[in-house]
Amino acid sequence: MKKGVVVVGAGGHAKVCVELLRAMGVQVDYCIGSGDGGAETCVGVPVLHGDEHIRRLREEENYQDAFVAIGSNRLREKLAGKAVSQGYRLVNAISPLAVISPSVRLGGGIAIMAGATINADSAIGDLAIINTGATVDHDCRIGRAVHIAPQCGLAGNVTVGDGSMLGIGCKVIPEQSIGNNVVLGAGSVVIASIPDGVTAVGVPARIIRQ
Ligand SMILES: CC(C)(COP(=O)(O)OP(=O)(O)OC[C@H]1O[C@@H](n2cnc3c(N)ncnc32)[C@H](O)[C@@H]1OP(=O)(O)O)[C@@H](O)C(=O)NCCC(=O)NCCS
Repeated sequence: MKKGVVVVGAGGHAKVCVELLRAMGVQVDYCIGSGDGGAETCVGVPVLHGDEHIRRLREEENYQDAFVAIGSNRLREKLAGKAVSQGYRLVNAISPLAVISPSVRLGGGIAIMAGATINADSAIGDLAIINTGATVDHDCRIGRAVHIAPQCGLAGNVTVGDGSMLGIGCKVIPEQSIGNNVVLGAGSVVIASIPDGVTAVGVPARIIRQ
C-alpha cells in the first residue's frame, strides 16, 4: 500500500494542516506529537509521541513525504531541517479554497489555508504559512519560515523577511519591507518599513522591543 504523509506536529495548527492535506486528496498516516504525552489522535490520525518517530518512520518504514505542522517559526524550521536531513521530501498543504495566481512561485513545506489569496508574481518561501483569509497582493516577497496569520492584508510589493510573524489582522501598505525575525502584533498597520529582529504593534505600527 502506498505510504501517506507523516505530519510533524499534533496540535491545533496540525489539525488544520491534516485537513488541508485531506482536501488535496493526500493521505496522512501519522502525526508526530511531543514526547511528553498528549492526545492519541489528531482529527482521526494516530499520534506517535516523540521526535524519534520521525527517523524511525523514515528508516524502518520507508516513509518519504513529511509536512511540518508547527506554528512556531523557529521550531518549524528546526524540525523541517531534521526531517530533510533524514531524507524526507517536504510536501505543501494548500487548500483548494485558496486563490493563487499561476505566476506565484512557491517553495516547499508551505501551508496555505482556506480563503487565502496570493496575487501575481509574488513568491512564497519554504516553510511559510499563509493563514486563513490572508491576502498577499502582487509582487510580494515572503521569506522562509514566515507566518502570515489569519486575515492579514499585504498590499503590492511588500517584502517580509525570514522567520517573521505577522499577527492576526495586520495590514501593510504597498512597497514596505519587514525585516527578518520581526513580530508584528495583532491588528498592526505597517506604514513604514520595519527593521530586523523587533516587535512592533499598533496603528501605525511602532517598535516596542528590539
Ligand atoms: C505583539 C505580541 C506578540 C506581544 O506579546 P508580549 O511580548 O507578551 O507583550 P505584552 O503583552 O507584554 O505587551 C507589551 C505592550 O504592548 C501592547 N500590545 C501587545 N500587543 C499589542 C497589539 N497587538 N496591539 C497594540 N498593542 C499591543 C500591550 O498592551 C503592552 O503595552 P503596555 O506596555 O503599554 O502595557 C502579542 O500581543 C500579539 O499581538 N501577538 C499576536 C498573536 C497572533 O496574532 N498570533 C496568530 C496566531 S494564528
